[in-house]
Amino acid sequence: MEAGVSGVDRAIILAGGSGTRLEERSGGANKHLLMLHDAPMVLYPLAQAIEAGLTRFLLVTTREALPTFRALLGDGAKWGVTIEFASQSRPDGVAGALAEGEGFAAGKPCCVLLGDNITDGDVGLREALQDFRGGAEVFAFPFEDPRAYAVAAFSSEGELVSLEEKPAVPRGSWAVGGIYIYDATAFDRIRGIAPSSREEREITDLNRSYFAEGLLRVHRVGGHVFWNDAGTPGSFDRAVEHVALARQRGNLRLGNPARAAVEVGLLPREE
Ligand code: TTP
Repeated sequence: MEAGVSGVDRAIILAGGSGTRLEERSGGANKHLLMLHDAPMVLYPLAQAIEAGLTRFLLVTTREALPTFRALLGDGAKWGVTIEFASQSRPDGVAGALAEGEGFAAGKPCCVLLGDNITDGDVGLREALQDFRGGAEVFAFPFEDPRAYAVAAFSSEGELVSLEEKPAVPRGSWAVGGIYIYDATAFDRIRGIAPSSREEREITDLNRSYFAEGLLRVHRVGGHVFWNDAGTPGSFDRAVEHVALARQRGNLRLGNPARAAVEVGLLPREE
């Protein structure tokens, strides 16, 4: 069966934003182009997505950075995938960046990945994409102190009871990571989102709109999976450390779209 009919084949990678918190490392350049250990940051979510079976990509970034991304990634043919590009006229939030993908999504469900999130381990994305039946799905990771993230809380029966952005007093310890799957209603929903106090259209407001209708599914990912939002100097360093260790242990897949493409049969083994 054609990919995309039974499952999700396309993904939008968000690599715009201001990157203020990482400016001391990037010198103001787009943070997703920074070398994270031995690969540019953006290659980590890209490789992860290819490994999960996604083959059609849209990269959303700033106007200034777009040519550099285009030079780095090309049209994706070297990895057996397609990559298109779009730019955000101003950094008006994660949901604002996603809005640029409406034409690319073309009424189909889409996976969305934040370009600064580094994940190592199986979050169950491949299965979630294959089984996706509508609404929205997100992935949550256990965090001792999740206050810097969107926090999901569950009832004792495992039912999602709240989803709050950066709560001062979290009701749970599950931080929502930067991997999402949305049906095509996402774009209409984004149009209805009012800018937050920081003048951004927040992805959590999009997720809350699905939650309000009982259409949000949260996959709780076990602590065996490494997940890191590498957008601050501290977390960037932790991600570098993790990748360096993983390499020492022989993991050449992380941040390596060519390996991922071989793994899923998009490229022959000898390449
Ligand atoms: P953030 O790290 O929340 O925002 P930022 O990249 O602007 O950084 P800072 O807060 O330090 O200024 O963004 C999360 C991800 O979403 C990141 O990979 C960049 C992407 N993003 C966009 O593509 N467009 C945007 O307008 C924003 C805010 C983020």
